[in-house]
Amino acid sequence: MRKPIIAGNWKMNKTATEAVALVELLKEKVANKDVKVVFCPPYTSLVAVKEGLDGSTVGLGAQNMHFEDNGAFTGEISADMLLDLGVEYVIIGHSERRQYFNETNETVNKKLHKALEKGLIPIVCVGESLQEREEGIQEAVVTTQVCEAFKNVQADDAAKTVVAYEPIWAIGTGKTATSDQAEEVCRWIRENLEKIYDSEVAQTVRIQYGGSVNASNVDELMGMPNIDGALVGGASLKEDFVRIVQFGA
Ligand code: G3P
Repeated sequence: MRKPIIAGNWKMNKTATEAVALVELLKEKVANKDVKVVFCPPYTSLVAVKEGLDGSTVGLGAQNMHFEDNGAFTGEISADMLLDLGVEYVIIGHSERRQYFNETNETVNKKLHKALEKGLIPIVCVGESLQEREEGIQEAVVTTQVCEAFKNVQADDAAKTVVAYEPIWAIGTGKTATSDQAEEVCRWIRENLEKIYDSEVAQTVRIQYGGSVNASNVDELMGMPNIDGALVGGASLKEDFVRIVQFGA
């Protein structure tokens, strides 16, 4: 049985001071032994959130990292820097990074290798645009993203990875994929992992859905066989997140 994982991607929201207040609001209420809960604040709040989470089972994640170890990469953050702060998870290849910051399948692959080498748990994001869905090529797009991301990643490492299916047209739009649409793509992702590796890896990897997840739609999404969690944006910044991690209750 895969343990569900629900992560809050805070994106570029919350100063460190505001982040502490949000941790205080949520941390007791989201404690759930049956679900792994992760907060992914901006870099500038990682230390404050880590301190705020002291003694809690909530995990700490970053929203990005560089694939190099160190050097002349102004403005970038390495895996070691994250580990040193007690970060355990890292989001890789979010569509906003692909769209605005030139993230490509190749850089996603490099980051995935680096995160796994260093012992961070990667949350690799994939998903098609509205135009790609309208053209009916979502399966091909997501398949390519998965195959490229996992290129030369060994099976035992792949099994540690979390994949997040986030259709771009559903992010921040209030337009959630139906549970059937989300399930279909998550199933394709698992089938791809089985082709690349084997059924053990495919059955081990946790696959999240992300895109306008909220307290009202989470139960149905989490009821789908290939959806093992959620990557939540807007609703992770409010008390709604408490209900989200208690899906099915
Ligand atoms: O990474 C989470 C995300 O992109 C979804 O954002 O605001 O639609 O839940 P949102």
